[in-house]
Amino acid sequence: MIKKVQPGTKLSGTVTAPPDKSISHRSALFAALSREVSVIENFSEAADPQSTLNCLTLLGVEIDRNGRSVRIRGVGRDGFQTPLKPLDCGNSGTTMRLLSGIVAGAGIECRLTGDASLSSRTMKRIMDPLKQMGCTIDGKDGEYAPIHIGKNQGLRPLRYPLPIPSAQLKSCVLLAGLFSDDPVEVVEPIPSRDHTERLLELDSEAFGTAKVIRSSRSDVIPAQNYEVPGDFSAAAFWMVGGTIFPGAEIRISNTGMNPTRNAAYHILEQMGAEFERTNDRFAQKEPVSDLTVTSSALRAIELDPALVPNCIDELPVLMVAMCFAEGRSVISGASELRHKETDRLAAMHEILTLAGAKTELKEDGIIIYGNPDFEPLAARYPSFHDHRMAMASAILALRSKGSSEIVDAECTAISYPHFWQDLSALQEN
Ligand code: S3P
Repeated sequence: MIKKVQPGTKLSGTVTAPPDKSISHRSALFAALSREVSVIENFSEAADPQSTLNCLTLLGVEIDRNGRSVRIRGVGRDGFQTPLKPLDCGNSGTTMRLLSGIVAGAGIECRLTGDASLSSRTMKRIMDPLKQMGCTIDGKDGEYAPIHIGKNQGLRPLRYPLPIPSAQLKSCVLLAGLFSDDPVEVVEPIPSRDHTERLLELDSEAFGTAKVIRSSRSDVIPAQNYEVPGDFSAAAFWMVGGTIFPGAEIRISNTGMNPTRNAAYHILEQMGAEFERTNDRFAQKEPVSDLTVTSSALRAIELDPALVPNCIDELPVLMVAMCFAEGRSVISGASELRHKETDRLAAMHEILTLAGAKTELKEDGIIIYGNPDFEPLAARYPSFHDHRMAMASAILALRSKGSSEIVDAECTAISYPHFWQDLSALQEN
């Protein structure tokens, strides 16, 4: 589907952030691991968390879904069944990486597959620690999906310093650790999103400037009865849209504000974005707020590379904001972007170049020469079948004079099925 984006004259109103994708995946996986029945409300209707539910069903987990309400009868650590078919993780790296940790410990044999994008993303990062724990695991060319996990008999404990600041890798090792009699320890030098350890209440402590997180078979996994908060990463598109669009005022209600996840909010504030943050509360263990963003003049910024894991999914739309910020913005230490659904550094460079922005692509980042009066060229933007590329291009196109087109625009359904409707509603208010 090709979607036309017309700049229009306004961008205002209220959007409710769609349910958080990372927390939806985790809530389902943890519910399956518990021995109780969980009811998860506001579960994401996006394609990626649905892949997790599909895989769990193949593993013998009973799931009843009614829109955003999902009831899961947990089977406990030792109740998973050998699937009769490969577990199809679709486009979802979180499904493949987190589920591998569980399957590795569960003592069942299975194959995990994915779409073309997921099959081109390395799984070596999870295979290495799982092998060190004694797991039989292999993949195409030793590192790509389809991956095959053998019937493992118990996993060995491991102390694992994370070589990459990745929440998916951290979570994979910690989930495998739930099957080890002795604690598995993950040493995390640079913080990444902490939903796994937060929701499972895993033991953790400071270790110098790093954090050590432990999991083992003795961790009790409770039922996951809660409401999933709104997705900060989805809300970020409106944070940037509201900031760069003249006269905009957007209220984004129910936005997850986990501090290991919301660096983009603080970065935008530092760049000069004006937010009103109200109604701070907790959705079970996760902090949530309502945000109102109004159009603001932006200054360029040199991003601290240590913040990259905390805004990894927001970097594409932050690049859009940087195009409208006075001066030279620099993103470095972000080579992980090259390992996402597409190479997001190269893809954003291509998109911004098509728009006529002045940028320099680096191996681990990008330099953007911003200008508050920048007027992106109306163009046909490729989405690279990547939901975040499609949404970032749409926000960029809002500042064009003419109308632009976003190719394969349906890919937004991977994380934000109502994105186009929400955009139209904000333009029509
Ligand atoms: C995620 C972690 C991040 C992020 C992805 C979701 C998660 O990936 O990019 O969209 O739910 O743990 P990495 O951990 O590989 O950086």
